[in-house]
Amino acid sequence: MKKIKIIATGSYLPEKILTNDDLSKMVDTNDEWITQRTGIKNRHIADKNQATSDLGVIAAKRCFETYGIEPETIDAIIFATVTPDKLFPSTAIYVQKSLGILNVPAFDISAACSGFIYGLSVAGGLINSTSMKRILVFGGETLSKVTNWEDRSTCVLFGDGVGVAVVEESFDESGIISVYIGADGNMEYLLHQPAGGSRNPATFETVEKKLHTIHMAGNEVYKFAVNTMQMAAEKALELAKITSQDIKWFIPHQANIRIIDTTAKYLKVPKEKVFVNIDKTANTSAGSIPIALDQMNREGLLKKGDLILIDAFGAGFTWGAAVIRW
Ligand code: COA
Repeated sequence: MKKIKIIATGSYLPEKILTNDDLSKMVDTNDEWITQRTGIKNRHIADKNQATSDLGVIAAKRCFETYGIEPETIDAIIFATVTPDKLFPSTAIYVQKSLGILNVPAFDISAACSGFIYGLSVAGGLINSTSMKRILVFGGETLSKVTNWEDRSTCVLFGDGVGVAVVEESFDESGIISVYIGADGNMEYLLHQPAGGSRNPATFETVEKKLHTIHMAGNEVYKFAVNTMQMAAEKALELAKITSQDIKWFIPHQANIRIIDTTAKYLKVPKEKVFVNIDKTANTSAGSIPIALDQMNREGLLKKGDLILIDAFGAGFTWGAAVIRW
């Protein structure tokens, strides 16, 4: 089987920053509560006219410029998101149009916060089963567009941003050593957007009741997140035939600092190996891991040969973890 590797990364966080103090003027909350319960200080918010694909296009252009990637060398575009530009066609189609990478397959993956890891897995499958050589895998959101800004229990948690990775077959030691993805639909109602799809099409009533926004039972989700992220990470480590002691970096989905700390503790990964940027980004769902990878890459934190564990959990519930040799 062909091993695939990430050869380039990019990301984009919208310029507008919403602070905890800003939020305290919108709902009954405060910086202390948000910081203590979530670790979040700031989140980036897309402009009124910016859709998810617009953020993706900037992320891809940054990636192409930095790594000298020619758009015509891309064989497929995969976009992991739950905040597509439109319900159809896919967000990948709009990215394709803007970047001018025409005639290659372009499609979205809906796996919430685990979407980027699902995307890596699908890209690996395509490279193994077709003549495709180089695939763009995006993960990211404009969650601000489906946030209920009157609900303090959710509006403090999320942010906007997109990350991207270029993957291709590896001919050296670098590459994705293991990927483990899964889902359990039994608890879908704990974290979802109730209206806007075919179950509850948009009506005056659904809009009035804000059913097209994020609905979440935070406490329940929290418990599943911690257990599932541990389980997924252990499975990916086992598939890679290594232990958590072998990894240089643990890059968890940035949902909540308490989920990150507890998962790292369960996995026996010391704090200095855990990448955290949730204070600046909040939860960008599918954007979380590719944004983190790009930031670390640009900061020179990722060295060739390093073993990295990425780990995510999201609505569905879905999960995914992978061990990567950089
Ligand atoms: N500011 C101030 N108070 C708030 C608040 C806010 N933004 N949001 C909720 N509260 C209040 C609640 O109303 C509640 O008040 P009450 O005791 O008077 O009823 C109190 O704080 C405690 O609420 P609770 O929901 O029990 O808090 P918590 O410790 O579980 O923290 C979350 C809430 C959302 C931070 C936490 O459950 C969480 O992070 N869950 C996981 C969410 C997540 O990451 N989802 C995405 C997964 S990919």
